[in-house]
Amino acid sequence: MGFDGAPVYLKYEGANPTGTHKDRAAISHVREVLVNGYDTITVGTCGNYGAAIAYYARRAGVKAVIYVPKGYKHSRVSEMKRYGAKVVLVEGPYETAVSLSVEAAKANGWYDANPGSINDHASLDAYSEIAREIVEQLGDAPAAIAIPVGNGTTLVGVYNGFRRMYKAGDTTRIPRIIAASTIHVNQLVYSWLMGSIDPLPVNTYLARETPVNEPLVAIQSLNAKEALMAIYHSEGVAYAYMDDEMVEMSLLLRAVEGVNALPASSSSLLAVRDFLSREQVDGPVVAVITGRWRREKQ
Ligand SMILES: Cc1ncc(COP(=O)(O)O)c(C=O)c1O
Repeated sequence: MGFDGAPVYLKYEGANPTGTHKDRAAISHVREVLVNGYDTITVGTCGNYGAAIAYYARRAGVKAVIYVPKGYKHSRVSEMKRYGAKVVLVEGPYETAVSLSVEAAKANGWYDANPGSINDHASLDAYSEIAREIVEQLGDAPAAIAIPVGNGTTLVGVYNGFRRMYKAGDTTRIPRIIAASTIHVNQLVYSWLMGSIDPLPVNTYLARETPVNEPLVAIQSLNAKEALMAIYHSEGVAYAYMDDEMVEMSLLLRAVEGVNALPASSSSLLAVRDFLSREQVDGPVVAVITGRWRREKQ
């Protein structure tokens, strides 16, 4: 796959019940809902997270109200409805769906499962498990780990997990954190590429959402600040890719390894390839891969 024999591992999240790592965060939030006696959970989503919340809410007998941008055309909306969620279609981008969901949570006393919100710790803790499982399987932290980013929540959770284990003496290092995303556009990767460790404002005209890059597009990455610090402190890096490159990498992954992953998440493998061609690496490198790729009917 162009890795020149380097030890590259996939952390495959596509086998989770609804197909992505979002299941981890959804389980964690639904558990909080039950412990704290809420009857409704809400989230703004571009698809995968909403499907996961709807699925676990249904299993726990909790109502789910999910805000989705109207422009999104994917089968995950009918999946959310099939799980019994109320879907509210919203004019505007993903960020508008999130802020409407946050406002609705406050107004109605619902549990707020949005990234960057008051309950973010539940997502971050859930994603830190990814780090624990990797260490369990490899026997130590890898030299580097590449993660596809939208809000950066997954990246921050994974970094926190590695940092905690290192501080506890369970690993000999914290891996270099590699963020991978779309060129059209992701705030945290854009900020890094512009040389800033503070999130920079992004012109909305740079955003071009497609069925391929849509999980990664973020004019505002809701965990950008912590994610940029994680990349900086771990001596990591961030890369951005075009749709064609991500699709090509997903096809290659399927052909060579028999692994089916969403093209958006194959950005992590493209990032591993670029990282290995530019950096000296003393140990295994892991790419987090997620999603099950079904071509959508347009
Ligand atoms: C397939 C896929 N990859 C990556 C991400 C990015 O995750 P995060 O928003 O935690 O950065 C998402 C988020 O929805 C996703 O669905």
